[in-house]
Amino acid sequence: MNEKAVLRLGDQDYPLVITVGSEGEKAIDISSLRADTGYITLDPGFANTGACESGITFIQGDQGILRYRGIPIEQLVQHSRFIETAYLLIWGELPTPKQMDHFSSLLTQNEMLHENMKHHFEGFPWTSHPMAMLSAMINALSCYHPVLSAPSNPSQVEQAAATLMSKVRTLVAFSYKMVRGEPFIYPSPKRRYVSNLLHMMFSQPEESYEPSPVVTRAVDRLLILHADHEQNCSTSTVRMVASSGANLFASVSAGICALWGPRHGGANQAVIEMLEEIHAGGMDARQCVELAKKKDSGFRLMGFGHRVYKNYDPRARIIKSDCDKVLEELGCCDPLLEIARELEEIALRDEYFIERKLYPNVDFYSGIILRAVGVPKNMFPVFFAIGRLPGWIAHWRETTESRSNRIDRPRQVYTGPNERQYVPLEQRC
Ligand code: SDX
Repeated sequence: MNEKAVLRLGDQDYPLVITVGSEGEKAIDISSLRADTGYITLDPGFANTGACESGITFIQGDQGILRYRGIPIEQLVQHSRFIETAYLLIWGELPTPKQMDHFSSLLTQNEMLHENMKHHFEGFPWTSHPMAMLSAMINALSCYHPVLSAPSNPSQVEQAAATLMSKVRTLVAFSYKMVRGEPFIYPSPKRRYVSNLLHMMFSQPEESYEPSPVVTRAVDRLLILHADHEQNCSTSTVRMVASSGANLFASVSAGICALWGPRHGGANQAVIEMLEEIHAGGMDARQCVELAKKKDSGFRLMGFGHRVYKNYDPRARIIKSDCDKVLEELGCCDPLLEIARELEEIALRDEYFIERKLYPNVDFYSGIILRAVGVPKNMFPVFFAIGRLPGWIAHWRETTESRSNRIDRPRQVYTGPNERQYVPLEQRC
């Protein structure tokens, strides 16, 4: 039976259409509300507002469910590799062996940058934040690949996806080397995705870096876990920029800027800084939790809480268990991991966190793994961006290929001054 909704304004009833998604999610379609009633809705932060219909990722926040194109994240981290999951997100199906080989060879063919791009790095001060450099360099990439920045057919989309996904590693590694004043290490066509990224970062001209399979697998699983998350802030930014007709590289560059914020992808860096402060004796775990509960403290338990998950973030559960494997493999223990576990234990028993359904999110433990691998903390958001790239590409495609592809242009409720007259300067005291 089709459910109905009626909006009553004064003595007038307005029937509204109910849309039901493939997982039973229900939405009231208000696309003709203003034309029919003169009213708009108001929803700061869009907590109650669906911006679009999407077939890419499904999250059930109360149960902690996350699926990419219908496949549970737990199965993908167990059986898949990042570039296979990327293919699934971008094109909607797991690749056949032939498709996988083709995409993998495209990534290898596209791993080098145009030699002139090396000079761009000379323009950045060594103190530049990696996210600032990445956003700028992704936009600069479109200058070298004008046709791909606005792909108009499937083979151009494939080429653009492979170009972005492959070159993002080289850009990240070169920015890491520039900051350290070390020579750039070029990608090796013999290496797989993550091994190549770590090779370009940590190898030296005289000594090649060989990451252990446990380390490359852990980073690959991290990238899978970050690959998409429906309409989060940065993906919504990519979709909004794409809706103006802007090219893929510009949309991704905007997404990187949105991801950088400490409330979003910058939280993984903020978590480690918080844990370091506790470890340095600035605070203890209980004090940290108490401070996070005080509204006026301006302090939040970074890596905790989520707009959608009101249960344990399924990604955090997997990353937490991977921490032990990586630290054991590297023969190191990290006091910050013990502090993180203590914080989690205290917070999950605290009424403030229980009442607000605040649990560890994807950022709470991810930095422990990246730190163990040797990634500097200000590059943690950049690793988040590498992981999220296939999701952004998938959403850019879905936005630009959608039949109802209109420019995103929200309305507002104006609260400023009513009409008043201009006062000449000499009359203003
Ligand atoms: C990501 O959207 C996505 O999918 C994002 C992401 C993805 O994959 O793309 O999952 C990645 O961004 C994860 C989130 C990373 N950010 C952090 O860890 C920063 C710390 N978390 C918070 O800033 C916050 O929880 C957000 C930003 C994540 C969510 O903010 P909301 O949904 O706007 O929630 P809110 O600020 O309205 O909080 C509701 C209540 C408030 O208390 P009351 O006013 O009801 O008394 O919970 C409190 C908040 O003060 N609260 C916290 C808290 N998070 C929320 N209190 C202390 N510490 C926290 N971390």
